[in-house]
Amino acid sequence: MTASFPPGFRWGASTAAHQIEGNNVNNDWWKLEHDAADYGVQFSGDAVDSYHRFEEDMQLLADSGFNAYRFSIEWARIEPSPGKFSRAELAHYRRMIETSLSKGLSPVVTLHHFTHPLWFDERRWLAGDAVDWFARYVEQACSILDGVEWICTINEPNILAMNHGLRRRIAAGEPYETAVHRALPDREIGEALIKAHTSAVPIVRGATSAKVGWTVANQALVAAPGAERKHAEVQHIWEDMYLEAARGDDFVGVQSYTSQPVDLDGVVPHPQHPDNTLTGWAYRPDALGIAVRHTRAVVGDVPILVTENGIATSDDSRRIAYTQGALTALHDAISDGADVRGYLHWSLLDNFEWGRWEPTFGLVAVDRQTFERRPKPSLSWLGDIARANALTPISTHQVRGNAQASS
Ligand code: FCB
Repeated sequence: MTASFPPGFRWGASTAAHQIEGNNVNNDWWKLEHDAADYGVQFSGDAVDSYHRFEEDMQLLADSGFNAYRFSIEWARIEPSPGKFSRAELAHYRRMIETSLSKGLSPVVTLHHFTHPLWFDERRWLAGDAVDWFARYVEQACSILDGVEWICTINEPNILAMNHGLRRRIAAGEPYETAVHRALPDREIGEALIKAHTSAVPIVRGATSAKVGWTVANQALVAAPGAERKHAEVQHIWEDMYLEAARGDDFVGVQSYTSQPVDLDGVVPHPQHPDNTLTGWAYRPDALGIAVRHTRAVVGDVPILVTENGIATSDDSRRIAYTQGALTALHDAISDGADVRGYLHWSLLDNFEWGRWEPTFGLVAVDRQTFERRPKPSLSWLGDIARANALTPISTHQVRGNAQASS
């Protein structure tokens, strides 16, 4: 049976500047990679040189049948020192937007995807003027966003609050092992990020005609028997406070990869299992359906864009099977009334997965010596779904064909 998606549905793939551009020498992640090298953290280095090769990357998407591309602009390049903005870097990102539009790819632009300029990192989100600094950056960024349909202010504020909260606790003397055990996003940092988002939204609305929102990491948390109260408490700190802050937005981004139970002690770490993905996460294609339904329950009628969903695997037939499962769950949620406007797969390219190169999420592999792009069967498989705007029986045949091709 053909499962059609709503007319005008956006189909694309997502990336983030630091994971693909290369040589983001002026941000906090670059510094962390160097500071933590002795602990096994790997370097982003040239990444996959998409800073210079973005046109080729966009062409791959456009040629395969997609109509959207999500990428982020790098604050550290645009504002290399406080209050000093780089016209040349703003022009670079303007060229990306124009290239994307000219290829029929609606740009979905993220203003902040995990990284901070070094000068900001020294002050951090709890400093009194942090929100003002962010707002000033957003104002400048808006000068290049003409024609963009979707703008995400901050990517996964809940993960940002988790990571910066951990840093805060470790800096206060807590041992790493206890700090990371069943860690939750830091509420105070989360509240600062909510302020940053709510001050950015009117700036974007005043300066562009885009839809504005933010993207929340959704963990599809499920209560273990008897742990319903703990589940409600954890879910609020994990994601609902961020979803509640999206109630007045033009859309909310759902980012989903897996699902986890919550017991009386909190979120249960993924148990070791042969089916776990290369990031160690449980294999849960159904998580996207749980995430969309839960998001809808919290945000009401705010439209949803799936801004990330995918799997770290070296077996592309598994990527296709996972995505087929996720899209089936998404289609069911839409049939039940969820207002979902698009699906952006994570990721277009195998890229720098925050300190590691091994977890490969891409529809396209990259030779890291020559930077040659090598599309995987999943790129054309998902592109055909995009063209048809439907999960068709033909795409089911392709799953088999592609699985054979890549085995
Ligand atoms: C999300 C991030 C994205 C990528 C995927 C796997 O949390 O937004 O940059 O790392 O996970």
